[in-house]
Amino acid sequence: MQDHLPEKLPEQLKEKIQQLEQEASQELSSQSFDEQRLEDFRIRYLGRQGKLTQILKDIGALNPHDRPALGQLANTVKVSLTQKVSELAGALKKTQREKTTQETQIDATLPGRPLPRGTLHPLLKTMEDIVALFKCYGFQCAEGPEIESDYYNFEALNIPKNHPARDMQDTFYISEDVVLRTHTSPVQIRVMEKFKPPLRIIVPGTVYRHDADTSHSPMFHQVEGLLVDEKVSFAHLKGILTYFVHELFSKDVKVRFRPSYFPFTEPSAELDISCIFCMGKGCRVCKQSGWLEVAGCGMVHPAVFKAVKYDTEKLSGFAFGMGVERLTMLRYHIDDIRLFYDNDLRFLEQFQ
Ligand code: PHE
Repeated sequence: MQDHLPEKLPEQLKEKIQQLEQEASQELSSQSFDEQRLEDFRIRYLGRQGKLTQILKDIGALNPHDRPALGQLANTVKVSLTQKVSELAGALKKTQREKTTQETQIDATLPGRPLPRGTLHPLLKTMEDIVALFKCYGFQCAEGPEIESDYYNFEALNIPKNHPARDMQDTFYISEDVVLRTHTSPVQIRVMEKFKPPLRIIVPGTVYRHDADTSHSPMFHQVEGLLVDEKVSFAHLKGILTYFVHELFSKDVKVRFRPSYFPFTEPSAELDISCIFCMGKGCRVCKQSGWLEVAGCGMVHPAVFKAVKYDTEKLSGFAFGMGVERLTMLRYHIDDIRLFYDNDLRFLEQFQ
């Protein structure tokens, strides 16, 4: 076969090598490589079927005397191409590495992401505020069950079965003798049964009545207070509730004790405050009366002391109970009680 090789072949091969070198270096400098492209390039020139590999094979077919010079030339090109490819591959790897470190690096100068902060529900906030105010006067917090016996909810509080006073509180009955407590007053009995006087307790809690409109919810909250000692008078009750109103609202708010009736207190009163919307002039909220009712109160009835075997001769005391929803609505000028239970964040977030 060698005999048939044309005379010009070495020359042609040389030219081919030079051409290939030019072509390759042009390609290398003219386009930007990613890893895939570089690999394609390597295969095209240096792979087993590559252009340079083909030339090297052709050189092998030349007669021995032409081989060394051309072989050397082709090899130089091969070495330099191989080197360029590996240099480029190294550079590509480096930029890739830099990119990933940049992406994963933490920029400590960026402002932090704020953590969403929870807030107390406005009702809970009011309850806690009320309890805190009475704690200043030495009252201790007490609690009792929401599912209550007829005895604690009514009987021991001087409300016998079939007494008309039961109509004051629309009751949820669980059975004939078990109810959802309609007020926090049963805790008065539970505490007095357990502890000897003197007593000062403040009782926040959930209560239930069959009633629902814009100012009544079947489940609502009360805070009860009870003080028992020797020589306690109605003046003490007036003093402490007046202090309470001035602290929770403001010193400009007037208080009024209006005679009322509760079976478990005698005398009994409603605590009214001058309307905080119209300053007592008369408006829609106070129904033109200038006053708002905020709590029931009175001197503990002797029948209640008897039920817990307290000495009615030596002891006296006062009690009061207030609606947390009503106080909270007045505090924050809220006109619909249902807003408290909707769990709408747009409402709740206003009480930060
Ligand atoms: N328990 C009464 C009510 O819910 C309020 C009250 C408490 C009145 C204590 C007097 C004394 O209406």
